[in-house]
Amino acid sequence: MTLDIEKIRKDFPILERETRPGVRVTYLDSTATSQKPVQVIEAMNDYYRRSNANIHRGVHTLAEEATSMYESAREKIAKFINASSSREVIYTRNTTESINLIAYSWGRANLKTGDLVILTEMEHHSNLVPWHMLQAERGIELEFIPVTEDGLLDLETYKTLLDRRPKLVSFTHMSNVLGTINPAAEIIRMGHEVGAVVLVDGAQSVPHLKVDMQTLDADFYAFSAHKMCGPTGIGALYGKTVLLESMPPFLGGGDMIKEVKLRSFRPNTLPHKFEAGTPAIAEAVGFGAAVDYLSTVGMERIAAHEHEVTEYALDRLEEIPGVKLFGPSADKKGGVAAFTLEGVHPHDVAQILDQDGIAVRAGHHCAQPLHEKFGIPATSRASFYLYNTKEEVDLLVSGIYKVKEMFG
Ligand code: ALA
Repeated sequence: MTLDIEKIRKDFPILERETRPGVRVTYLDSTATSQKPVQVIEAMNDYYRRSNANIHRGVHTLAEEATSMYESAREKIAKFINASSSREVIYTRNTTESINLIAYSWGRANLKTGDLVILTEMEHHSNLVPWHMLQAERGIELEFIPVTEDGLLDLETYKTLLDRRPKLVSFTHMSNVLGTINPAAEIIRMGHEVGAVVLVDGAQSVPHLKVDMQTLDADFYAFSAHKMCGPTGIGALYGKTVLLESMPPFLGGGDMIKEVKLRSFRPNTLPHKFEAGTPAIAEAVGFGAAVDYLSTVGMERIAAHEHEVTEYALDRLEEIPGVKLFGPSADKKGGVAAFTLEGVHPHDVAQILDQDGIAVRAGHHCAQPLHEKFGIPATSRASFYLYNTKEEVDLLVSGIYKVKEMFG
């Protein structure tokens, strides 16, 4: 089950980078964005060198080649999440755009004043603000599944909220701060029992866990390439065919139409109906290469490796006097360790760690309400992926002791 970590690290050229002379980077910020293996970088490079052309438009060889690369990446992504068809995979810019697409298209067609949308207190701003905007426009109601002290969703309260017959339940599969892996299949099943449509923010789960659309039965599932070894600027929205077909288009323009007259248009079939304008073609190729890369390494093996590193990190961080960790125990979470250090601002922690090449993120991580819930403005956050090692955790721990010394 174990990964050949030395071989994997060689695939990621940036891990050799020195951020200061003699100081090699210790990258512990993959929850913000993952690093990219040479297989992805080269796939995009090759595309630009050999096959660049616009898609779905030309009959010339390059256009056909580019189209086929763009569409075959979609097939790979569909297979990776076990969608029943690649028509159910819409390319977007990222998870944020995928959720906005649902709020804009499905939301505006299906939600009216007084309709209830259930979210959770651990959502990223991407799964809060689109619904705030719809609330201002449509007068929908929002309720939130509370987060317990140990960073889990309070499913008893969820049950009570379901009695109010929500139209939509939208929640994160894995928290980008607490690392909590939510019981997605159960939350979805419970939502479906009362007739709700269920949307899942999979930005943190798809890169780290094996997700299967047939088992989960989510109606919509959103994720980004850049957190799963792929490029920035491209993400995906999975949606069940019947729902996607019933929805009005999102953005209007080229490619998303079948026919245009001066005063009207007929939308294209799936998935093109939701992809207006020239898309991120090289990025789609990179997305496909990222999926190939992760599949070759094996998602179960990646998850097991991350679990081992995370368990070790939580144990070691817990030993440091003044460190307070947020989120559940390692068995209920992915590779995220958000913490505060008594008497030191999280930004100072991150800045001092950076002097030793250790990259962690500090701030509210686009989850301000969650931080408010815990009564803190910010945390420092170390996060782990397939290329991280226990030795890097040791560097983090020594770095934190150094911060403590500096702050007396
Ligand atoms: N959502 C990303 C993070 O948690 C940007 O850092």
